Amino acid sequence: MKVLVVGGGAREHALGWKLLADDPKLELISAPGNPGLAEIGRVEAIAPTDIAALAALARREEVAFTIVGPEGPLDAGLVDHFRTSGLAVFGPSKAAARIETSKRFAKELMLAAGVPTASARTFTTVAAANAEAERLGAPVVIKASGLAAGKGVIVATSISEARDAIASMLEGNVFGEAGHEVLVEEFMSGEEISVFALTDGTHVLPMIAAQDHKRIGEGDTGLNTGGMGAYAPVSIETDAIAAQAVEQVFLPTLKALRAAGSTFTGLLYAGLMLTRDGPKVVEFNCRFGDPETETILPLMASGLIEPMRAIANGDSIAGAAPISWRKGAAVTTVVAAEGYPGAVRAGDVITLPPEEHDVIVFHAGTKRNAAGELVTAGGRVLAVTALADTLASAQKLSAAHAARVHFAGRQYRRDIGWRELARQFDGA
Ligand code: AMP
Ligand code: GLY
Repeated sequence: MKVLVVGGGAREHALGWKLLADDPKLELISAPGNPGLAEIGRVEAIAPTDIAALAALARREEVAFTIVGPEGPLDAGLVDHFRTSGLAVFGPSKAAARIETSKRFAKELMLAAGVPTASARTFTTVAAANAEAERLGAPVVIKASGLAAGKGVIVATSISEARDAIASMLEGNVFGEAGHEVLVEEFMSGEEISVFALTDGTHVLPMIAAQDHKRIGEGDTGLNTGGMGAYAPVSIETDAIAAQAVEQVFLPTLKALRAAGSTFTGLLYAGLMLTRDGPKVVEFNCRFGDPETETILPLMASGLIEPMRAIANGDSIAGAAPISWRKGAAVTTVVAAEGYPGAVRAGDVITLPPEEHDVIVFHAGTKRNAAGELVTAGGRVLAVTALADTLASAQKLSAAHAARVHFAGRQYRRDIGWRELARQFDGA
């Protein structure tokens, strides 16, 4: 069986790795892929948004189905095009992807369906947005309505900071079109977890939660990034919280999407804030999270191919067995380039340590130079996942392996999972 994975990050490498762990005879094709994916399958130099070329590839190779990693091609209508062309594809339509690509759409849908989330209002003028921020008082959250590469959210700790954020989005054009409409949102306090569910549009197969570390610095300090690491499982996701996530978040959201004529199939990602009043949605994503995917998939004991293939074919997963999980914990440490999350230098030669038991190195921003050497080619360069019986051991193993990855200016955090370790320590 052949499967096409669209994308070229560590998330896509982890997806390919898991499919091959399920079925070593699987033929993996990725586009554009990366050097890590090239070691486990074929790569085709096609951009993720070159939908016509991807469809031609899927047809020519007679792939069983295609998996879309990033949100860009979903927003560009890849799934709609594939379905119209009779090609099986895992991911939501452009209209259903609005649950991520339009914060306004997502918020209105959640509020109408009674899905717990922070209250928010949408504005296109500075004066009205400022008035709302003042009414709510600080801290208050200002969000660009459209896609802003994960950067369009300002948690303002003062009203003047809120005003600056509103002005920069509506007048300063910092996020372009995406920021010409802003949401002024109630601040929620609590710990955030990422919960993924595979869905056929009606039924869900939820995965265990992971916690992402978005800040560049240890102790969750410094600038926001795409994610410097993640760990799973997360003990604050109790069975009761997991059940609430399904009953109060996933199922009503999917029902509302069906009612809106935008049935969502694929992977729905809920960023949940565990507040004193229960879990509340911070945001939805219409795709697997990065780096959480690199953490969660290695812990998955049951297969990913079958539910994904069923969903890609438009079949029901009503009768599918729940996902089962390995014992123990996983920690993913991201190794980033110098300067990240700002501008980074590319082309530094990477040396990797010898392979190690229970450690998987997923490639993100890497490429081969003309001499065939592995070099840096992005902000997040590698994602190093370690599995162990305990979180403390997984953290140690992951950080120690990351320490033996060498390239000029590399940076990584040694404290991924620290919140959970502090909880374990407190509870001990
Ligand atoms: P988002 O891009 O929507 O995930 O937001 C980025 C980050 O901002 C989230 O991971 C939260 O940590 C924070 N955030 C977003 N919305 C809120 C909110 N209403 N209250 C508190 N923090 C928030
Ligand atoms: N880990 C956050 C994201 O994938 O959006």
